[in-house]
Formats: sequence, C-alpha cells, structure tokens
Amino acid sequence: MRIRVFDSPHDAGIYVAALAERVIVQRPQPVLGLATGRTPIPFYEALVRLHQCGLDLSNVIAINLDEYIGLPPDHEQSYACFMKRHLFSRTNIAPENIHIPNGVASDLAQECARYDAIVRRCPIDFQILGIGVNGHIGFNEPDDLLLTKTHVVDLRPETVQSNAALFERVEDVPKQAITVGMQAILQAEEIVLMAFGQKKAHIIAETVLGEIRTEVPASVLQLHKNVTVVLDKEAARDL
Ligand code: GLP
Repeated sequence: MRIRVFDSPHDAGIYVAALAERVIVQRPQPVLGLATGRTPIPFYEALVRLHQCGLDLSNVIAINLDEYIGLPPDHEQSYACFMKRHLFSRTNIAPENIHIPNGVASDLAQECARYDAIVRRCPIDFQILGIGVNGHIGFNEPDDLLLTKTHVVDLRPETVQSNAALFERVEDVPKQAITVGMQAILQAEEIVLMAFGQKKAHIIAETVLGEIRTEVPASVLQLHKNVTVVLDKEAARDL
C-alpha cells in the first residue's frame, strides 16, 4: 500500500483528482467506482474544477458502491441525490452511464443481481473508497464473513450513529443498505482509500498495519496490488 499524507483534505482531493484524470484520459471508456460520505467531497470538488478547466467526462462510466434501503433517488439524503449534488449535476457524465443501486426496488434480490451484472460488464478501473469508523468499505460491515456479491446489509449501530451527521435525527438514518460486495471492490484495477480527521486514525492504523480480519473489512485491501491510502495528518497520526 502506498501512503500519502497531506496537510488538508483540500490538498488530498486535488491529488486524488489528478490520479483519476490520468485514468480518465488514458481509457476510451474509464469506469470509476464512486463513494459517498463526507470524505470524498474534496475529491469531487477538485474533479469538478478539472472539468471546468477542460477535462471531458462524457466517456466516464460511474458505478456507485451503495445506497440506503427505503430512500428513493430524489430523497435528499439518498446517495443518488448526494452524487447528483456533488458531481453528476456539475459535470458532463452522461446520465445513461451513471449506476447506483436502487434502494426502493420491489425485489431487492433481483436488484442485487442486476447490479452485479453491471459490475461484471464494466469492471472498475479506479475505485474511490472512504472508510467507516468501524472499518467498513462501501457498506461491507465487520462480520464473521465478508460477502463477495452485492447484498442487503443491516447497518451496525456505530455506522448509523456516525452517518446520522448527514440526517436531521439519528432515527431518520435507514437501518439497512444495499452494497456491492468485496469482489467488485477488490477486482478494481486501482483503489484509492481516503480518510480524514483523528476519528479515523485508529481504524486506519488497523487497516494498514494490522492483520487481515473480517472485523476490519478494509484490512483486506492489503492483499490488493494497487492501493493508495490518502490521508490528512490527523488520520495518519497512529501510523
Ligand atoms: C458511509 C458509506 C461509506 C463511507 C462512510 C464514511 O457509510 N457507505 O462508503 O466510507 O460512510 O463516511 P464519512 O466519509 O462521512 O466519514
């Protein structure tokens, strides 16, 4: 794993956008695996700025990691809405090239299978990841087993608590989500894991320096040959 430590999330975002640009300009149809949460926002801001400076994103295929169950795409706290706000409405990524799991599908098993078929058809070139305070990536929560395929997951209490910051009340946070499994993530050609702030310092140390454990899902990234961990100084404190 390559570790890069920046003075600020802003500087880190510019670096990650430059990494993404390299992939975007080299591939005829680059597939970006995209994440939500507060962490990737500086990256999206930098990518939007690159687009404003001339970077064409019309050939990009965007595949998001996850979505809350029960939130329709136009719900303000849905990940579909988040992505629209921070990236999709501000760039020229074609609407038909945008993929996000449907959290209100009537048949969730079918929705999981549909999403896996998309990832099989469009393997990810460049995967952006944040990390949960408990080490989850996407919504692959700590458990005895890590699931390979797209699946429905019960969110752990610490995840609900931590993600409540983006909702009005903790009771409003959905208790389930649909997420790609570890396979889609680990088959990405290149992975960039971002983490900022001292709240992430402990789990980053476990992820990077600890043994590989399903209790720390992000630790399996140690097995991937092309991972860059992008941190600010606070998140790197325990390394
Ligand atoms: C959610 C997302 C993850 C993200 C995590 C961390 O749980 N499913 O992909 O990494 O939030 O969020 P934040 O970046 O806001 O700390």
